[in-house]
Parts: sequence; structure tokens; C-alpha cells
Amino acid sequence: MTTPVHVTVTGAAGQIGYQLLFRIASGQLLGPDTPVVLRLLEIEPAMKALEGVVMELDDCAFPLLAGIEATSDLDVAFNGTSWALLVGSVPRKAGMERSDLLGVNGGIFKPQGEAIAGHAASDVRILVVGNPCNTNCLIARSHAPEVPADRWFSMTRLDQNRAETQIAKRVGTGVAGVKNLVIWGNHSSTQFPDFANATVDGVPVVDAVNDRAWLEGEFITTVQKRGAAIIEARGASSAASAANAAIDTVVSLTTPTPADDCVSVSVTSRGEYGIPEGLTFGFPVVADGVGGWSVKEGFEIDEFSRAKIQLTVDELVGERDEVVKLGLLG
Ligand code: NAD
Ligand code: LMR
Repeated sequence: MTTPVHVTVTGAAGQIGYQLLFRIASGQLLGPDTPVVLRLLEIEPAMKALEGVVMELDDCAFPLLAGIEATSDLDVAFNGTSWALLVGSVPRKAGMERSDLLGVNGGIFKPQGEAIAGHAASDVRILVVGNPCNTNCLIARSHAPEVPADRWFSMTRLDQNRAETQIAKRVGTGVAGVKNLVIWGNHSSTQFPDFANATVDGVPVVDAVNDRAWLEGEFITTVQKRGAAIIEARGASSAASAANAAIDTVVSLTTPTPADDCVSVSVTSRGEYGIPEGLTFGFPVVADGVGGWSVKEGFEIDEFSRAKIQLTVDELVGERDEVVKLGLLG
């Protein structure tokens, strides 16, 4: 049997954890030929609930599930891990912005960064889901300088999926036809879902939709505020769609990206498209399928887009300044 890959999920007894673990164990994260060991991290008060989740995982008798380690010890949770999915943290409530969580959640990511640096496998890759995910990713990365910057990701894929559906519905076609839809910047209400570079069934979205006012207005705000709309409707933040986007992100980063497409994921800026170096920023990314990726070149940025991108840059710079003040940056 192939050597199992260790996958860590933090906050494993939470809402997203419950939607994510069974899909990983069934092979949807790493494919039907890769056995996995799940390393599940929770805080002490949630260990009992996690025990129940582990019982359910056992009861599924997943052939690919080679082991489960449920723990509240960070070093154990990240020991030998190749994929660390950092979900565990507090979700926002109605009326809050995700950045309001920085003071509550930011502190979680310093020790996790240190434990990843100390115990993870040499090929570890990290996807931060817990909000505010871009800046939490920055915090964790700053405490793990040994782990190369290109291994750190935070999740803007849920926003991409949301944006694709809005476009497909508007045009009256399937989501599979929507390509090159990048979410620039922060997973927050300043993100810029870029319709200008996207295509639908091979036609520029701008032409297929033929309603610039809708694209510049309702389309952008619907995507930016979708998380809040779900909290308002459900009384709890998105979980199944968030877990689905986490799976999509890992799959997209581990399979070659088709030439006419990109994946939206936040990565460490190396100054591409004039974005300040070091921010964890949503870019159009292409993966080579063997662990490498790059920011896709050639996206056109007009005056409208540049102004939108600047807003989200400014917000992320502000969040970085705040975590410096909080003493959370390594
Ligand atoms: P939840 O409250 O249902 O679960 C969170 C779990 O994390 C809980 O079980 C809690 O015990 C655990 N936890 C708290 N502190 C921890 C720590 N220090 N170490 C390990 N575990 C810890 O929340 P949820 O709905 O699963 O959401 C989790 C996070 O994901 C929230 O911050 C939410 O805002 C975020 N989120 C992000 C996206 C995205 O697109 N990036 C989408 C949806 C939700
Ligand atoms: C989402 O986008 O659904 C999550 O980030 C949860 C939230 O707070 O909006």
C-alpha cells in the first residue's frame, strides 16, 4: 500500500470540520489512490465532541483512512503533516466584519505556526480557513520562517465559487463555462471579484452579461457580502460550502490548471501586479500539478479594477499594522 499522507485539520469538531473530515477520508482531497492519516486538533473543551466525530469516521469504514490522531496538543497535531488545514477559530456573528475577529483569533496562529515549523513534514503546505484568514496566514507564516513562503495559502476559493455561480445564473449557463474569475485581495468585504478578465463559454463576461452597471454594482457586492447573507439567513456561518472550497483549493493546487483558467487563492505576494510584497493576497494562480504554482500573468487592470484592488490592499496593510501592534507578528 502507498505510504499514507498525514493531513491535519484544526477545529475538527466544529461546523466546517464536520463537513470536511468525511470528504478527506473518502479520498476527495488527495484522490482515490492516496491513503490518509487524519490528525485532528481541538481545544480541551471540545475533545468530547471530537471523540464522537472520530467514532463516526470509524463507522464509515473508509478504505483510504489509515489512521486518526485526535489531540489537543499542537506538536502531536502537526507531527509529520503534509497538509495543514487551519480551520479552528471563532466565526463572526451577524453585524461583525471578519477583521473584528483579529483580536480573538489572531493569537491562535502564532503557536500553530511555531508547531508547524517544528513538527510538520518537509513538504508541508498550509491552507488557512479561520478568519480573518489572510492575516491569520501572515501571522502563522511569520512564526515559521523555516517553511518556504510559497507553501502558505489562505482561502479565497469560496468567493471564486460564489462569483462563478452569480455569473452563470445571470447568463443562464453552467458554472463549468466560467473561467479566469479571480478574487483579488482579502477574503473580506473589500475583495474584488474581477469580472473584467473572466470569460463564460469562451466569451468575455462583460460581453455575455452586457450590463456593466450590474457587474460593477450588484455582482461585486453580492459576492463581497455573501458570507454575511448566509449568517443572517442560517444564524451560523457557511460550513458545507466552506469545506467544499477547502477541498477545491487543495485539488486545484495539486492538479495542473487548464490554460484557459486560474484558481483564486491567497498567496504570499512577491510584488506581482504591484501588490506590496509579503501580504497574503488573493491572486490568479496556476498550478503545475507537481507541487509548484505561479501567479498567472497578463490579467488586464484598468482604472476601475486598480481602484478596487487598492481598497483591498489598504485593508490588508491596515490588518498587518494591527497585528504588529498586537505583538502577533514574528
Ligand atoms: P465553529 O465554531 O463551528 O468551529 C470552530 C472550531 O474550532 C470549534 O470546534 C472550536 O473548539 C475550535 N477551536 C477554537 N480555537 C481553537 C484552537 N486554538 N485550536 C484548535 N481548535 C480551535 O466554526 P466554523 O463554522 O467551523 O468556522 C471556523 C472558522 O472558519 C471561522 O473563523 C470562520 O469565520 C471561518 N470561515 C472561513 C471561510 C473562508 O472562506 N475563509 C469560510 C467559512 C468560515
Ligand atoms: C464566509 O465567507 O462565508 C466565511 O468567511 C464566514 C463569514 O464570516 O462570512
